[in-house]
Amino acid sequence: MNLTVHKSTGLNGDITIPSDKSISHRAAMLSALTGSVVEIQNFSLGADCLSTLNIIKNLGCEVDFLSENFISVNAKNVFKKDRYNLDCGNSGTLMRLFSGILASRELEVVLSGDESLCRRPMKRIIVPLELMGAKFKHNNYTAPLVIKGRELFPIDYKLPIASAQVKSCILLAGLNTYGTTKVTEPYISRNHTERMLEYLEADIVSDGNVVKIKKSKLVPKNINICGDISSAAFFMAAATIVPNSDVVLKNVGLNPTRTGILDVMQQMGADIQILDKKTDCNEESGDIRIRTSELKAVTIDGAMIPRLIDELPVIAVMASQANGTTIVKDASDLRNKESDRIKCLVSELKKLGISIEETDDGFVIEGETGHNMKGGCEVECYKDHRLAMSLYVAGLICEKPIVVKDFQWVDISFPEFLKLMQDLKD
Ligand code: S3P
Repeated sequence: MNLTVHKSTGLNGDITIPSDKSISHRAAMLSALTGSVVEIQNFSLGADCLSTLNIIKNLGCEVDFLSENFISVNAKNVFKKDRYNLDCGNSGTLMRLFSGILASRELEVVLSGDESLCRRPMKRIIVPLELMGAKFKHNNYTAPLVIKGRELFPIDYKLPIASAQVKSCILLAGLNTYGTTKVTEPYISRNHTERMLEYLEADIVSDGNVVKIKKSKLVPKNINICGDISSAAFFMAAATIVPNSDVVLKNVGLNPTRTGILDVMQQMGADIQILDKKTDCNEESGDIRIRTSELKAVTIDGAMIPRLIDELPVIAVMASQANGTTIVKDASDLRNKESDRIKCLVSELKKLGISIEETDDGFVIEGETGHNMKGGCEVECYKDHRLAMSLYVAGLICEKPIVVKDFQWVDISFPEFLKLMQDLKD
């Protein structure tokens, strides 16, 4: 579906941000490991999380939709077969986390995915899992992956880059392995796996960027999932740069390992208020109010990168309106996402008239408040949901309408995006 985006004169109103994708994946996976019945409120309806539900169904769970996004997982008959063929669709999180779960069980599994997922690097999980004794067959460290599961040994592993997917993969293998498995990251990445495992009473201890886990049985408990700050980010950026905007985003996850975008926007001078904060199922959330603001440039690097890795494309759009030079560095792993997010982003934002240059590990933008983007062209999202939505936000401030090609890729994480955007325009 090609989508035409017109210049906006203002975004106003309140919307509720749909479920967090990272937490939904983990809720479904960990429910499957309880061997019991768990109800999950506010499960993500994005295609990635539906792929996770399909996988746990294939593994023997019964999944019932009690209402639109309220599900029940019955895991009493999980892992009863010796062989499984599992399709991870477009989801790197699903493939990497499930590899840890499966490698430590006596099963033979083929994990496959779509064309984009089969290009993404899996060496980062295969190396530590092989150190634990796991057996893999792979295509030069890419999917399809054949895993011959078995009892593993604990390891003390230092991650070369901060990655929640790799950390979680090792922790989930450690959850079913005797002894203490220890993971150390250079900087702390999102810690939803640790928090949910703690909530379900696993034997896990986190101390800064070091996490230790021992073999544990999970206690089945119902899970309520907050809204996704990575989805909220598109509305936060749009409300900041579209003139005459005043928006409230309700029920946004505020786990500090994910709130880098709030810190950076505040540093840029954005008018943001957190209205209400609560904690449920070991995760913080709240409402966020954002109004149109005059922005200044920032440098984003180091420990900040894992706290906003998925928001960098839309931050680039905001930076085009921020006075001065915005520099993003230490973010070379952006090249390994659903697309090469450095190369693809730079090429498409240039078409719109943004002054952006690619670097090895990020990009540099010369911005200006009110910088006039000409638009009037077609842009590509490279089958990448976050690029599609970032380009949509850019279209809201282009002089002439733009066409975002293949906009349906948004459904991977955020099928409600267009409806919610429309609610703020009406
Ligand atoms: C995710 C971790 C991040 C992020 C991805 C979701 C997760 O990837 O980019 O969208 O849910 O653990 P990395 O761990 O590879 O940085």
